[in-house]
Amino acid sequence: MENKHKRTLVTCALPYANGPVHIGHLAGAYIPGDIYVRYLRMRGEDVLFVCGSDEHGVPITIKARQQGVTPQDIVDKYHKVMKDAFTRLGINFDIYSRTSSKVHEENAAEFFRKLYDHGDFITKESEQLYDEEAKMFLTDRLIVGTCPKCGNPDAYGDQCEKCGSTLSPDELINPRSSLSGSAPVKKKTTHWYLPLDKYEPWLREWILEQHKEWKTNVYGQCKSWLDGGLQPRAVTRDLDWGVPVPVEGAEGKVLYVWFDAPIGYISNTKELLPESWEKWWKSKDTRLIHFIGKDNIVFHCIVFPSMLKAYGDYVLPENVPSNEFLNLEGDKISTSKNWAVWVNEYEDEFPGQEDVLRYVLTANAPETKDNDFTWKDFQSRNNSELLAVFGNFVNRAVVLTHKYFGGKVPANAKPEAIDKETLEGVKPCREAMEKYLDTFHFREALKEAMNIARIGNKYISDMEPWKVAKTDLERTGSILYTCLQICADLAIAFEPFTPFSAQKLRDILKVSVDAGTDHRAGEGEPTVNFYKEGESAALHTSVKPAYPVVLNWNMLGEKELLKPGHELGEAVLLFRKIEDAEVDAQIARLEAIKAAREAAQKAKAAEEAAKKVEPGKEPVTFEQFGAMDIRVAKVLEAERVPKTDKLLKLTIDTGLDKRTIVSGIAEYYSPEDMVGRQICILANLQPRVIRGIESCGMILMAKQGDGKMRLISPVEAIANGAIVG
Ligand code: 2FM
Ligand code: ZN
Repeated sequence: MENKHKRTLVTCALPYANGPVHIGHLAGAYIPGDIYVRYLRMRGEDVLFVCGSDEHGVPITIKARQQGVTPQDIVDKYHKVMKDAFTRLGINFDIYSRTSSKVHEENAAEFFRKLYDHGDFITKESEQLYDEEAKMFLTDRLIVGTCPKCGNPDAYGDQCEKCGSTLSPDELINPRSSLSGSAPVKKKTTHWYLPLDKYEPWLREWILEQHKEWKTNVYGQCKSWLDGGLQPRAVTRDLDWGVPVPVEGAEGKVLYVWFDAPIGYISNTKELLPESWEKWWKSKDTRLIHFIGKDNIVFHCIVFPSMLKAYGDYVLPENVPSNEFLNLEGDKISTSKNWAVWVNEYEDEFPGQEDVLRYVLTANAPETKDNDFTWKDFQSRNNSELLAVFGNFVNRAVVLTHKYFGGKVPANAKPEAIDKETLEGVKPCREAMEKYLDTFHFREALKEAMNIARIGNKYISDMEPWKVAKTDLERTGSILYTCLQICADLAIAFEPFTPFSAQKLRDILKVSVDAGTDHRAGEGEPTVNFYKEGESAALHTSVKPAYPVVLNWNMLGEKELLKPGHELGEAVLLFRKIEDAEVDAQIARLEAIKAAREAAQKAKAAEEAAKKVEPGKEPVTFEQFGAMDIRVAKVLEAERVPKTDKLLKLTIDTGLDKRTIVSGIAEYYSPEDMVGRQICILANLQPRVIRGIESCGMILMAKQGDGKMRLISPVEAIANGAIVG
């Protein structure tokens, strides 16, 4: 990596505080960000890692309304859930703050104010829909009505979820506010806009010419936005939840969430480092890297940089690594459909297995295209990669060292060419890892780390030290010496990916790692990351290494990391088997969610079909109607027509006579239901023979949209033969 900069500022997208974090979020931005930060810190770079909750925006206000609580209640709850989930997964931000903080409110207001004073905004008056009962302007999502394309009565003002059409609120038939149910009215309102079109020439040069190295998906999305032509974008909203617009005449308006949220990166840095934050944001020596999901690309590559450019003295992102989407068991992850693996639930259900999730989400990361998470793949990657290759190799090496050499690294007394060749095989893996890590290809980098374990596992299997030990203990010593050097390499190589297991391994090897410094202490001394013995690598750091041997990234693949005579700790297992029952339970949970969703969809479809009304028929004359002899009759006897499911044979008293009618109502009424009932019949329908029985007339039924039929009967008793008309 070229190292022209002095420090790297890494941000991860601020997640909305309206639900817990799921694996899609983790795979998209947070695990890649954490891997990168751990890697840079091990290389001795000065890194600041910033994140926090995005606590504004309309969905939070909708959720609060639905639950009868305040938006602040919602964000308080989820801020904590998300913060804890990240910590438990070893994602150690220097600061994880929130956009409802005082510092942020002031900082975002100051940012807006400066652009406003410079005349960087334009204002536009427009007519927008307003709910007079709720006294609120309605965003498109808050307006519902009938879809003009498919008739769905609950289409949103921006989209019909049934037919997928993109809509505008004006197109909806009978629009209503989803807040109060009342019909919205049009009302004039003024908003501030950032004229993105003005920044287009500069953005073209900066992104399309100067950042050709950005990942293809990011570069491609930027190019298509720029080629499509940029339009001014509103940066304010009529809402009561958000950062109030800090200028006169803006009462009842807040900053648009996508204006204030990215400023949150700066606010959170300011909160942590009130004295020295500017060196991270305003110095040419800083490299700024944003980790985001693909739905955030335009905001981080086009809108936020234009804001920073307008402000003047801020650094611009050097790179914006963004992943594609992760699906779950073949379907799109969806918070509203509860189709997700929630990180906090995973941590509760798989305690101590944080690294497995980190590993699987990296090994299967949607780096270049959307990818799928399946529980079976999760199980197999754990059992056949982490456990069978990495864990198994380390365990064999350490157990045999205890068995034959009293737990001390043996002397390399009888080396052979294969040992040297094997150890030299680690170097190319390290070089490839660096190449991939420097260019944000973490999946490939992890493959190379795993290749180091494969090299070790193959070597120990081929050398069979347990057999050699029967005849040649010196050679056994050289084999195990070689294996233990590879174990030490693994304790370095896996630190960015599976930090808990890497720490466990270092405790087995009784070595420390210099994992760099972080800034969690704020303006105080940066924390030095020598993890404590037996503690999780996520939380417990110490200024003193637990063991005198201290590894660092630059030692990976180098000679003799562990000297002969170095005493090892106990051989504990790095990974455990994930059992079928554990993943089957997760699959069953998802299947139950899917089944419930399908049942609800079916019920809704049936309800809608039932409401469907047949179109009206051609007019008839009074005479035509009068020609029909419709009468009240009574059912005297009823029986099923043999060998049919639908037919009943009824004997009825029409007042005129007693006759037989065969009717297809057995689906809806049993013979017992019918006997004794008064019904209406068309008495002068020409007789027909049905299944060998002459049917004289027809029973009148009402049929609804879904085909369901009901008898037409007089409300009160009336003489048989009474004319209906
Ligand atoms: O997509 C999201 O979850 C947004 N809350 C990301 C915001 S990133 C930044 F701008 F703060
Ligand atoms: Zn529709």
